[in-house]
Amino acid sequence: MATQTLPPEIGRPSTADAESRPSMAMAGADRILGLRCRNCGTREALGAAYVCAACFGPLEVEYNLAAVAGLDRATIERRPPGIWRYLELLPVAEQPRRGLAVGSTPLVRADRLGPALGIAELWLKDDTRNPTLSFKDRAVAIAAERAREFGITTLGCASTGNLAGATAAAAAALGMPAYVFMPADLETVKIDHALAYGATVVPIDGTYDDVNRLCLEIADETGWGFVNINLRPFYAEGSKTLAFEIAESLGWQAPDVVVAPIASGAMFTKLAKGFRELADLGLIERTPIRFVGGQAAGCSPVATAWSRGTTVIEPVRAPTTFVRSLAIGNPADGRYSVELADASHGSIEAIPDEVTAAAIRQVAGLEGIYPETTGGVTLAAAEAARRRGIIREGDRVVALLTGNGLKTPDARTLGLAGGRAAPGEPGLAPVLRPGYASFEAWFEGNA
Ligand SMILES: Cc1ncc(COP(=O)(O)O)c(C=O)c1O
Ligand SMILES: [Zn+2]
Repeated sequence: MATQTLPPEIGRPSTADAESRPSMAMAGADRILGLRCRNCGTREALGAAYVCAACFGPLEVEYNLAAVAGLDRATIERRPPGIWRYLELLPVAEQPRRGLAVGSTPLVRADRLGPALGIAELWLKDDTRNPTLSFKDRAVAIAAERAREFGITTLGCASTGNLAGATAAAAAALGMPAYVFMPADLETVKIDHALAYGATVVPIDGTYDDVNRLCLEIADETGWGFVNINLRPFYAEGSKTLAFEIAESLGWQAPDVVVAPIASGAMFTKLAKGFRELADLGLIERTPIRFVGGQAAGCSPVATAWSRGTTVIEPVRAPTTFVRSLAIGNPADGRYSVELADASHGSIEAIPDEVTAAAIRQVAGLEGIYPETTGGVTLAAAEAARRRGIIREGDRVVALLTGNGLKTPDARTLGLAGGRAAPGEPGLAPVLRPGYASFEAWFEGNA
C-alpha cells in the first residue's frame, strides 16, 4: 500500500497560539503510562493497538494522574476554548499545531423543554455545532493527533454516518488521505458530507457490524489508522471532553443525571471516566451521577440486556430503525454500558422511532435547537427515565445532543399524518403565486 508523508503545515490554524497552549512540560510520557486491558488488566506499550493479547479484551489508555496533580481550574479557564484546554487529561503527547476548532460547545438551560418532560432543571449540551456537526469531531481530533505521533499517514473509519464526515474533515485539515467505510443505506447527506472534504467513501452492502469486521481486516493489512479501530483507545478518550466541558459550564460541578445516546457505548462510558478523573484531581467534588442511556428500539442490544438484568449482550443482526447513527448490533462497549447504568442507578431506555421523531420536533420547537435522530432518542430517554423515577424531582439533568438535525432530514416528518402537520398547525404551505391575494386566500383557509 502506498504511504504518504504528512506535509508539515497544512490545514486550518488551531485556535490556540503558541503562548496560550498548555505547557508542554506537563504533556510528556510521565502522565501517559501506556495501554491497559479493561478486562484482565494486562499492560501494553503505547501503540496502534486495541485488543489485549492475553484475553482479547479492549485496551484503554492508562494515565498517571499524580503527574498532573497541580492542574487547577484557573489554569484551565485561562486557556483558549476547545478540547485542548484539557490536554493533561488527553492521550496525546502534545497539542497539535493544526486541526479543526473542536469543542467548547454551549450548555443551554432548557426552560421550555424541561417542564414539558417533567424535569425542572434540564440542560442541553449542544454538540450539534462542532465543525462537522457532531460530537465525533472530539474523538477524531484525538485519534488523528495520535496517528500523526505514531507516524501513520492515512486515516480511515468504520462509520454509522457521523464519523465519516468527522474523519474526512480532520484528515483534510491535516493533509492526510482518508478512506471512510459505511453501510450503503445511510443518509445521502452524510455520504455527500464526507465526499465534500475529499475523502474516499466506500459504501458497503451490509450492516455496520459487517463494515466494522471488514475494516478490522483492512487496518491489519494496510497499517492505516482507523480512528475507531486500531486507534480506538485514543479515539474513545475524546468523549471525556464532553464531561470536562459540562462540569466547567456548571461552575465545576457534576450534574445529578447525564443522559446520552449509546451506539458502541464508547461515549457513554467515557463520560463517566471524564467526571471521575476531574474528581480524582480535585477539580470537582465527587458526587454520585446517574447515567441514563438511550437506544433506538429497532437496535437496542444494550437496553435489552439492561432491562433483562444481564450484562451479556445479545447482538442484533438486522437493525430496523431510522436512527442509523446508533445502529450498531454488536456494540464493543455494550457490557460496560450496562455495568455503568447499573452501578450508577441509571437506566438504558429503548425508544421507538416515532417517539424519537416527535422528540426532535419538540426540542426544535421549544428551544430552537435541532438535533439529529440521536438527540431525539436522548430526550425521549430522559422522559422515560423521569417516568421510571430514575430522574427525580429537583435533579439537575444534562442531556447530550450529539449531532445536528440537518444530517437526518427523514426525521422531520416521521409519524405525522400524511407526512405533514395537521391543518392549522405550523408546517409547509403550498407553493403560492407571488401576490398578496394568493397569500391571503391560503392564510384565511388555514387560520
Ligand atoms: C451523533 C451520535 N451520537 C452518539 C453516537 C454514539 O456513539 P458511541 O458509539 O460512542 O456510543 C453516535 C455514533 O455514531 C453518533 O453518531
Ligand atoms: Zn486482557
